[in-house]
Amino acid sequence: MDKFLIRGGRPLKGTIKISGAKNSALPCLAATLLTSETVTLHNVPYVKDLITQRRLLEDLGATVLTPELHTHKVKAANIEIYEAPYELVKTMRASVLALGPLLARFGQAKVSLPGGCAIGTRPIDLHLKAFEQLGATVSLEAGDVVARAPKGKLIGAETFFEKVSVTGTENVMMAASLAKGKTTIHNAAREPEIEDLAELLNKMGAKIRGAGTETITIEGVNDLGEAEHTIIPDRIETGTFIVAAAITNGELEIKNCQPKHLEAVIEKLREVGVEIKVVDETTLSVKCCEKDLQSKDVTTEPHPLFPTDMQAQYMALMTQAEGASTIVETIFENRFMHASELVRMGADISISGNTAIVKGKTKLTGAPILASDLRASASLVLAGLAAEGETLIDRVYHIDRGYENIVKKLRNLGADIERVTSEMAETVKN
Ligand code: EPU
Repeated sequence: MDKFLIRGGRPLKGTIKISGAKNSALPCLAATLLTSETVTLHNVPYVKDLITQRRLLEDLGATVLTPELHTHKVKAANIEIYEAPYELVKTMRASVLALGPLLARFGQAKVSLPGGCAIGTRPIDLHLKAFEQLGATVSLEAGDVVARAPKGKLIGAETFFEKVSVTGTENVMMAASLAKGKTTIHNAAREPEIEDLAELLNKMGAKIRGAGTETITIEGVNDLGEAEHTIIPDRIETGTFIVAAAITNGELEIKNCQPKHLEAVIEKLREVGVEIKVVDETTLSVKCCEKDLQSKDVTTEPHPLFPTDMQAQYMALMTQAEGASTIVETIFENRFMHASELVRMGADISISGNTAIVKGKTKLTGAPILASDLRASASLVLAGLAAEGETLIDRVYHIDRGYENIVKKLRNLGADIERVTSEMAETVKN
């Protein structure tokens, strides 16, 4: 298993280009299942989860061409099976995004029920309830969710999410696009990725209004057709690099981003003392820090508030801020796995339920540590960049799921980070 070896203490300097958003590219690729015509997606990030999503489409019978590394041309004309198997779902929960499109277009879908994962139990009951409201019958058979639309067609309906769900909203938006009649999604997620998916679906011929607000209406159409679309930049990668500049006392220009998609993150980091300038619609500059960083409390909430996907990175930064900060995680019940690793590096963090208290500023010292999930890995990389000495991070396959070329990008900014194989890592340890 590969590891990252980081020798910390170097300020990051230079210009970085942000990749396409993983969490937008995943549903957009799933949406290609809604039509037999070609859908072209640009700015698809080259990360493991997207490779898995592509494999899922191909397993179902779609043809995926990649004329350029970040462009996918998908033609789902010959779909022969309507099933996302356990082998894929267990490696990537976003495979459940195939459910809505398959059910809507073919009237049937079978997707293995995802189990819990490192950050929480993550049920999909709300997706399934909404499909039932659209007329589907849903049953659980040998660990698989089997959904069928009576007479092969979903019927538009009023749907209500008791809890805001990003992929739930996306699944229903895709399914309702080919349903008979009008669907309203109440208490919809408002993430930029929802708007991006709606934009793609509308280019394909769907009639969706209100994406980005809590009420989305969808007039079902008979067919969807070809479209070309560019995926939005990854707001979480952007936030991660802002923290990377801050935690290393560096100075970065961040290009190809959309500052308006991460206003809550920018605002919080400015309160902490990070100097962030919105240069233009797609560029940020970050400079850190003439004064000591100040601890500030944060609570994770659905968009437009502070995202859970930035909580771990923020915690790493708080270890380097003066004073105590309280971090409350409201989205996932087990998303503090990085805390004990940060403590191994010298951080002072105590956890009680969904609340972490970080007391700073503490000196971080390099240590062998374990990554537990995607964003936890990012937080450990950030801590390693700020630490004195060598940090060896194990299980970096988590980070490969969602950060494109992170080692190369960080090295270009002056970081001392390398990817090592297990054998090389043993030599380093001895
Ligand atoms: N929930 C339910 N029932 C459901 C669906 C969700 O109880 O049917 C609960 C979840 O357990 C959680 C909350 O509702 O407590 C919100 O979950 P949501 O459904 O919004 O999460 P998701 O759609 O599974 C997406 C992102 C996550 C991100 C969350 C929250 C994708 C592919 N994944 O997950 O991204 O953390 O929204 O913003 O879009 C990541 O990129 O590292 C990542 C985990």
